[in-house]
Amino acid sequence: MRLIRSLSAITSAVKVFRKSKNKIGFVPTMGAFHEGHISLIRRAKKENNKVVVSVFVNPIQFGPNEDYRKYPRDISRDKELAEKAGCDILFYPSAGSMYPKGFNTHVEPEGLSALMCGKLRPGHFKGVATICAKLFNIVTPDTAYFGQKDYQQALIIKNMVKDLNMDIRIKILPIVREISGLALSSRNRYLTPAEREDARLLYRVLKKARSIIRQGEQDSSKLRSIIDNILKKPGIKIEYISIVDPDTLEEKKMIDSSFLVALAVKIGRTRLIDNMMIKIKN
Ligand code: PAJ
Repeated sequence: MRLIRSLSAITSAVKVFRKSKNKIGFVPTMGAFHEGHISLIRRAKKENNKVVVSVFVNPIQFGPNEDYRKYPRDISRDKELAEKAGCDILFYPSAGSMYPKGFNTHVEPEGLSALMCGKLRPGHFKGVATICAKLFNIVTPDTAYFGQKDYQQALIIKNMVKDLNMDIRIKILPIVREISGLALSSRNRYLTPAEREDARLLYRVLKKARSIIRQGEQDSSKLRSIIDNILKKPGIKIEYISIVDPDTLEEKKMIDSSFLVALAVKIGRTRLIDNMMIKIKN
């Protein structure tokens, strides 16, 4: 595996891949790898001849009071894990090379980016879409892999690729969880043991929602208030409980066919999200 930092080196390495007609799989990340990231890299390796993984803590997707500075960084550990999972090139650019002086062009997704996480993190999805567009242009992958953990992000990127006619397939892979059910996240390492216990409630409440629906509940406001009651605890601040159409992210009043329950909470100072796609059999 090669670790590449410079734009000229990644561009020529990708050209070599392309010349030999390799299928390129791409996994964009911010590093601090866990099994969620690794599952994407492994899948990319299974489905492509070459795999490029990027590690870049993207400053423009963090709000002014968010954790850009303290976001976990551990490139030497990431390097080892990426190589074991089948990565061919680990692309690790500097912020200065991605956003040099005079950088002035962004990709601004509309619609979906104003909902759910977008309401609480203004500008976040503009930052995500811009960095993904830049990385897609640099890496020119056939397929890029995203996790369902950040469902709204994956959907926005899927739409961006379609809207801007980028010739890239986007695949969304399942959420990897701890045995306790807690969805893996680089931010979990901020949690104290007591907070981690509270964080486990997220998956518990999603499973509860699924079982209530399977018992026939169709009123989403009733479901929301059950979820709200379980999560309402000192130390947990609910940001949103969304029961939405999985394509449009519009709130559903009545629950029918397939839909997404998505949660965002703050536990202490740590922001956590989780979601579950629930299908009803008619
Ligand atoms: P990051 O948080 O590092 O996540 C990289 C990829 O890993 C994303 O597609 C995310 O959905 C996926 N992922 C995270 N936790 C997961 C889990 N528990 N199970 C499965 N997949 C998981 O998301 C970003 O970085 C950035 O916003 C990025 C797209 C790289 C743009 O900067």
